[in-house]
Amino acid sequence: MSDEEPESPQMSPYMVEVKEGKQYFWCSCGKSKNQPFCDGSHAGTSFEPVPFVAEKTGTMSLCGCKKTDDGPHCDGAHLLY
Ligand code: FES
Repeated sequence: MSDEEPESPQMSPYMVEVKEGKQYFWCSCGKSKNQPFCDGSHAGTSFEPVPFVAEKTGTMSLCGCKKTDDGPHCDGAHLLY
């Protein structure tokens, strides 16, 4: 485990449209230019993208501050900073 801190591109969740059954890769490092998804910018850091499959088509609330303990989901951690 590293004590490297992620960047926080946004101090609120990203509301994104997802499609049932499709796999996505949530950016955990905060460096991606394609937030909230991984674009490979974590290379050279201790961070890895978090894969998930959308359970249903609709809007998801994905963590933007990257401090969540429940990635890729927003758990309200942005309210603590
Ligand atoms: S760019 Fe952030 S985890 Fe890949």
